[in-house]
Amino acid sequence: MGALFFQVLLFSLIVSNVDARFIVEKNSISVLSPYSLHSKHDASIGNFGVPDYGGSLVGTVVYPSKGANGCAEFDGDKPFKSKAHRPNILLLDRGDCYFALKVWNGQQAGAAAVLVADSIDEALITMDSPEESTDANGYIEKIGIPSALIEKSFGDTLKEALKKGEEVVIKMDWTESMPHPDQRVEYELWTNSNDECGVRCDEQMNFIKNFKGHAQILEKDGYTMFTPHYITWYCPEAFILSSQCKSQCINHGRYCAPDPEQDFGEGYQGKDVVFENLRQLCVHRVANESSRSWVWWDYVTDFHIRCSMKQKRYSKECAEEVMKSLDLPVDKIKKCMGDPEANVENDVLKTEQDLQVGRGPRGDVTILPTMVINDVQYRGKLERTAVLKAICAGFKETTEPSICLSGDLETNQCLERNGGCWRDPKSNITACKDTFRGRVCECPLVNGVQYKGDGYTSCEGKEVLLLVL
Ligand SMILES: *[C@@H]1O[C@H](CO)[C@@H](O)[C@H](O)[C@H]1NC(C)=O
Ligand SMILES: *[C@@H]1O[C@H](CO)[C@@H](O)[C@H](O)[C@H]1NC(C)=O
Repeated sequence: MGALFFQVLLFSLIVSNVDARFIVEKNSISVLSPYSLHSKHDASIGNFGVPDYGGSLVGTVVYPSKGANGCAEFDGDKPFKSKAHRPNILLLDRGDCYFALKVWNGQQAGAAAVLVADSIDEALITMDSPEESTDANGYIEKIGIPSALIEKSFGDTLKEALKKGEEVVIKMDWTESMPHPDQRVEYELWTNSNDECGVRCDEQMNFIKNFKGHAQILEKDGYTMFTPHYITWYCPEAFILSSQCKSQCINHGRYCAPDPEQDFGEGYQGKDVVFENLRQLCVHRVANESSRSWVWWDYVTDFHIRCSMKQKRYSKECAEEVMKSLDLPVDKIKKCMGDPEANVENDVLKTEQDLQVGRGPRGDVTILPTMVINDVQYRGKLERTAVLKAICAGFKETTEPSICLSGDLETNQCLERNGGCWRDPKSNITACKDTFRGRVCECPLVNGVQYKGDGYTSCEGKEVLLLVL
């Protein structure tokens, strides 16, 4: 019953967007060798694993002689791990099992990335991850390599060349997958305050908790402008007075959310969730007005810990305690929320419903959680390091904040031959810096001395002495 009604609500959302568009986010693939196949193709980025936003990967294509659908574990100890310096990119066929399972088996077998060749001629589609029940051992979270779907014709071309015994080298390129026009990144997270919706809710909450530190540093220093968003549905006209709409909606059927337990008689109701979503939006708005927008991250994580549905503390009273402890103005937030019983539009939620419909390159928001960075939808797992990499790729080159160059995102290219950069053999002072874009050779700042030079062959430091006499 609950699930059925949820579908009615969902349906009203979909029919309201006549032009509903889901945008396929892409990276490019260039064939570098053999020479006769030189060409550039689009591929669609898988919505799991870690796409190398801002970077690229050159590798040798390998196609398994058996089990090419990748649905079973490959025999042997990492059979596709490269023995040469160039990594292997595993090509697999679409079909017979989930995309994510193929990529996981490829990763286990030592591949640096996985390409899935479509089985029919069609436009590129997005490979999404399956829902929880199919992921018994939690492999989806453990996928850490990039993956992409390619068109059938391109897949056939690659397979033919390999069959002839040719070495096929390709470059997967994500440098244009994320726009990077300027020195500030705008990003949004479409989320939900419901904390009892299974694996997707847990994923969102873990992400918010783990990403909070990064998000707050970026926001406080003005590197980013983050905006949280919440999806709501509306009640079809004919049902407004039904008990279902009354329990799932506020403002006379205008803003609804599915019942958390999918049971109208028990626990929390959909309208409790809508109301908390609205509160979280208002926390952000009001905090933003006093230039403390990042407090949203504290509020949401604290609310989740202190006011969970499980502990039966998901309530207005608990929310207000959290606000007080974060020094948020409770009255202003109440005013922003308005009266949930009134038969009027709510400015804040009306704005959210308008924004759900995509404009320009962004596409409609149809899956939760959805992250949008510089107006394109993020693909990949919702995990701290993967998302930070994508955000970092959104800065104009050389303007990225130091957090993008820090330990978290080290590519460790400096470990090998010092990345080809300058190094003083005596002191081991080096110009090599690992960044998410790969290594850079830049003369360092050591003990207050800025070394100068090209960073590759020379750097010179001149002591600046502070004289007191
Ligand atoms: C937050 O504040 C900034 C600057 O004051 C403004 O441009 C932005 O639209 C605000 N965001 C929201 C969601 O109100
Ligand atoms: C410099 O690095 C090399 C290799 O890592 C090491 O053997 C050597 O002791 C280091 N020298 C100094 C002065 O730290």
